[in-house]
Amino acid sequence: MSKNTVLITGGAGYIGSHTAVQLITQGSKVIVLDNLCNSNAEVLNRIHSITGIRPEFVKGDILDRGCLDKMFAKYSIDSVIHFAGLKAVGESTQIPLAYYQNNVTGTLVLCEAMAAAGVKTLVFSSSATVYGEDAPVPYIETMPRGKTSNPYGTSKAMVEQLLTDLCKSDPEWSVALLRYFNPIGAHPSGLIGEDPKGIPNNLMPFISQVAVGKRKELSIFGNDYPTDDGTCERDYLHVMDLADGHLAALGCLSDGGVHIYNLGTGSGTSVLEMVNSFQDVTGVEVPYSFAPRREGDLPAFWADASKAEKELGWKASRTLDEMMADTWNWQSKNPNGYDD
Ligand code: NAD
Ligand code: UD1
Repeated sequence: MSKNTVLITGGAGYIGSHTAVQLITQGSKVIVLDNLCNSNAEVLNRIHSITGIRPEFVKGDILDRGCLDKMFAKYSIDSVIHFAGLKAVGESTQIPLAYYQNNVTGTLVLCEAMAAAGVKTLVFSSSATVYGEDAPVPYIETMPRGKTSNPYGTSKAMVEQLLTDLCKSDPEWSVALLRYFNPIGAHPSGLIGEDPKGIPNNLMPFISQVAVGKRKELSIFGNDYPTDDGTCERDYLHVMDLADGHLAALGCLSDGGVHIYNLGTGSGTSVLEMVNSFQDVTGVEVPYSFAPRREGDLPAFWADASKAEKELGWKASRTLDEMMADTWNWQSKNPNGYDD
């Protein structure tokens, strides 16, 4: 069970919108704060269609302290799930200052506003990328953070440290650092899903855009990795399971301090297995060719997901077939995402 009124920063985005649906469905009041820099206000209509309830929406920026103060004064917020941030790894190497500004300074300003309002319960979107380049698999929470290879990853590691220091300084803060593996899929209604702007960086939206005819073919980055079929392996989890993980974390955040959880399935799937699975489930062909490795990619990683199961009672339950079917349901009903 989550607390009553939940502020979702970045709640118009991919993971935030699915989490909003799950929170509303189980009875929470939801306030979405988003500057729409990587999302579309149409998502709010879709959340309404699914749940029958329209979340309160504040169009604003986490960097805008005045906006945050007004919001905390207006709504009686119990806790915050903080998704807002920039997330494109390649772009982060081009415009690192924008990434540190949004992801690190943005979180700092948010925490200052929360402290001033006396709201000290926070769930933060971290990433498996904080384990760094040299960590052995599976990744487990007891490992130290490793060497990150790009400003995006470094910004996540910096925020983890910032929040850890904050909790040490004040025992009233309760923070969950949720380290996501690779979220894919969509709400089974097909009304909300992932809607990347421009050419997708990530595998699943690229596959589904090839399938729907928006892209000619998939380039598979590298087939000479030390894996069973030579392509990279990742731990893909259904975005609905990931959303449920936030509700589970919120429900367990009462005792103060920082709590770190991997949110993944605990097993890896290769790029070729992903393509084959998508084709098998949907019956739609995905033309592909092999291309050179993408800089910065690791051969294989997946989660040790046992801590979240033991402490939160959360386990990813949706299958790879469901991830593929739900991705295709969303993409085929919304070939141009929310711009249709
Ligand atoms: P997303 O881009 O779909 O959602 C992020 C939302 O935040 C967008 O709606 C965007 O408009 C908003 N936003 C960005 N900067 C803002 C600001 N300064 N003020 C207000 N709103 C702002 O991304 P997502 O995939 O839903 O990811 C959510 C979070 O999870 C991000 O922090 C991301 O880094 C993290 N994460 C994502 C993945 C993934 O694979 N999608 C993996 C690990 C971690
Ligand atoms: C990427 C980010 C990571 C972030 C994660 C989730 C990089 C280097 N890492 O991880 O920090 O947390 O997204 O947002 O960008 N692939 C192809 N062809 C494509 C796209 C991807 O072959 O067109 C392959 C990649 O080489 C990789 C796998 O598919 O092996 C998954 O890629 P992707 O979806 O981008 O996720 P990650 O690389 O795990």
